[in-house]
Amino acid sequence: MSIFSTLWPSVGILGSIGLSILIMIPFVYFYSQYKFNYWKRKGVKGPPTLPFIGNFLIPGRPIPLMQMDHLREYGKFFGMYQGRRPILSISDPAIIKRILVKDFNKFHNRMPTNDSNITASQNLVSARYDKWKRIRSILTPMFTTSKLRKMEGLMVQCVDSLYDVMGRLAKTESSFLVHNVMGNFTMDVISKCAFATDTNAHDENENTFVRNARKLFEFNFIRALGRFLVPIWMKNILKAFHVKYFLTPELDFFINISFELIKQRKQNSTVKYNDMLELMIKAKHGNDQLMEEEDRFDSHHVNVGNEEQQQEQKLLSEIIGSKYLSEEEIVAQSVIFFAAGYETTASTLTFALYELAMNPDMQNRLYDEVMAVVNNGDPLDYDHVMKLSYLDAFIAETLRLHSPVLMLNRQVNDTYHIPEYNYTMEKDECVIIPIYAIHHNPEFHPDPERFDPERFMPENRDKMIPYSYLPFGGGPRNCIGMRFAMSEAKLGLTRLIKDFIFFKSPKTCDELKIKSSFVLLKTTPILVGVKRRN
Ligand code: HEM
Ligand SMILES: *[C@@H]1O[C@H](CO)[C@@H](O)[C@H](O)[C@H]1NC(C)=O
Ligand SMILES: *[C@@H]1O[C@H](CO)[C@@H](O)[C@H](O)[C@H]1NC(C)=O
Ligand SMILES: *[C@@H]1O[C@H](CO)[C@@H](O)[C@H](O)[C@H]1NC(C)=O
Ligand SMILES: *[C@@H]1O[C@H](CO)[C@@H](O)[C@H](O)[C@H]1NC(C)=O
Ligand SMILES: *[C@@H]1O[C@H](CO)[C@@H](O)[C@H](O)[C@H]1NC(C)=O
Ligand SMILES: *[C@@H]1O[C@H](CO)[C@@H](O)[C@H](O)[C@H]1NC(C)=O
Ligand SMILES: *[C@@H]1O[C@H](CO)[C@@H](O)[C@H](O)[C@H]1NC(C)=O
Repeated sequence: MSIFSTLWPSVGILGSIGLSILIMIPFVYFYSQYKFNYWKRKGVKGPPTLPFIGNFLIPGRPIPLMQMDHLREYGKFFGMYQGRRPILSISDPAIIKRILVKDFNKFHNRMPTNDSNITASQNLVSARYDKWKRIRSILTPMFTTSKLRKMEGLMVQCVDSLYDVMGRLAKTESSFLVHNVMGNFTMDVISKCAFATDTNAHDENENTFVRNARKLFEFNFIRALGRFLVPIWMKNILKAFHVKYFLTPELDFFINISFELIKQRKQNSTVKYNDMLELMIKAKHGNDQLMEEEDRFDSHHVNVGNEEQQQEQKLLSEIIGSKYLSEEEIVAQSVIFFAAGYETTASTLTFALYELAMNPDMQNRLYDEVMAVVNNGDPLDYDHVMKLSYLDAFIAETLRLHSPVLMLNRQVNDTYHIPEYNYTMEKDECVIIPIYAIHHNPEFHPDPERFDPERFMPENRDKMIPYSYLPFGGGPRNCIGMRFAMSEAKLGLTRLIKDFIFFKSPKTCDELKIKSSFVLLKTTPILVGVKRRN
């Protein structure tokens, strides 16, 4: 009896869902077929479609590889369908530059998402124009060189833990799962800097914070698919039936923690923390510079020239609304910093360690570069590691060959003509820019599958076609955390390179195999060997 009474409600819900899905299928099918005429009507070529899914996903072919196939087959301009939504795919650097930079005033939004939690949806990634502009202009000064120097102390504590873990692994293990260790490191850094929480993620005994964080990032294919395959009206029906499928309790956990922390901080305003939370609470529009002279050094390889900088300054100097962030807005940013900063940086470091192991000569050259600083009596701190040019080129090449983020997207807010293809976008049409495929296109990057940091050395950098290298996106809406991620990666890597050797062990794969990847690049597990230098 008790079993039935607990079973009944869920069976009831499942039954209703099943019934509504059955009833809806013909309508949805008809609708989707109609939608799949869009590109044909507009005279744009593109890959064949599967019912419902469209063609952004092919069973058995990971998205990055499929995008490379498409670029070869359909060129730099073609139409796709993500679910029922038509999307233009553009890989032509000249057009990309116009979309990201010159015509930013028409392309300031990403594709709309429908976040179930209103608090969380105010984050920088999802926010739309005026709101985005206001939040971005208040946050931008937080990521300047002088603010990052203040956060360096927090990062170094996490590098110390990473160093200890590596020491233990070098003693006991012949090879280790790189992503675990690097993921624990970036989780430590971002939770310290954005949530003021010591996670000790390396520890075996996971605390609640770490457990929730890991769950938040567990890749759930069905849920990801559901996000944009299920029409909004059907989501609303599911919500009405209290199906919590699209809501994540883990997210609530983070939102809860953030509110609590802000309350504590406001009661205790004299204590100095030097973390993002403090900066956000105190941030006021117009109080700090948007860009410092020194920042230029760190952004050379991501298409940031004078033109871009002036445009950004002008754009962000005037805003509508409050000069401060509300509590809700601060919470939303903490959560998005976590989401955008944890896995991306962990992947970057994982791929970097793989390339170190596969290229011992490069590893030696990096070692020499690091030792030049040490032998000079200088510390491996922010100022010194950011100036190492081979390290910089090495990471840049890692981000080219193994770009963690697979694509960018934008939505146009007006009609927009693309003369190269005599094509006019309609208002609200969306574009994607397939970063991974662009980075692997021989036309832009000769011998694209070869790992070669020389491409990014100062003397070669100018040969690269602008906007054919986009690991952090581009224009005013590029990755706000770029300099943060770079300093985190460089502080971590220099310390490891100084005292450890990473090598190819029998368990290290000769070639990385790409697994089904959705938003971020995923490969089969990467193991490398580690030993201490003598
Ligand atoms: C190696 C690590 C990282 C990579 C490869 C990366 C990549 C990207 C990319 C490709 C975008 C989209 C840019 C565009 O649409 O033009 C982006 C946006 C963003 N990233 Fe990162 N990211 C990294 C680390 C971080 C970190 C550490 C943070 C936070 C501290 C962060 C916060 C953000 C935010 C908030 C946005 C949205 C910006 C906006 O819409 O104004 N990212 N990132
Ligand atoms: C998202 O959902 C809200 C309320 O549920 C609705 O008002 C809004 O129109 C939706 N946005 C889009 C882009 O469909
Ligand atoms: C790091 O995190 C993983 C889970 O991702 C865990 O299994 C592992 O024990 C942690 N510590 C180390 C040193 O890898
Ligand atoms: C979002 O999550 C927070 C934290 O759990 C909750 O207090 C709030 O009511 C949620 N908002 C919506 C609109 O679901
Ligand atoms: C959030 O906090 C409230 C009160 O502080 C608590 O009742 C609730 O269970 C918390 N929710 C989560 C998901 O931790
Ligand atoms: C204020 O800060 C002190 C020192 O960090 C701490 O002991 C105290 O609990 C804090 N008070 C509140 C209300 O958070
Ligand atoms: C698109 O956005 C720009 C910048 O905010 C604005 O000036 C323009 O009026 C918008 N266009 C439309 C059709 O809404
Ligand atoms: C461009 O397209 C328009 C209508 O879509 C057509 O009338 C015109 O002839 C085309 N121009 C060229 C040069 O193909």
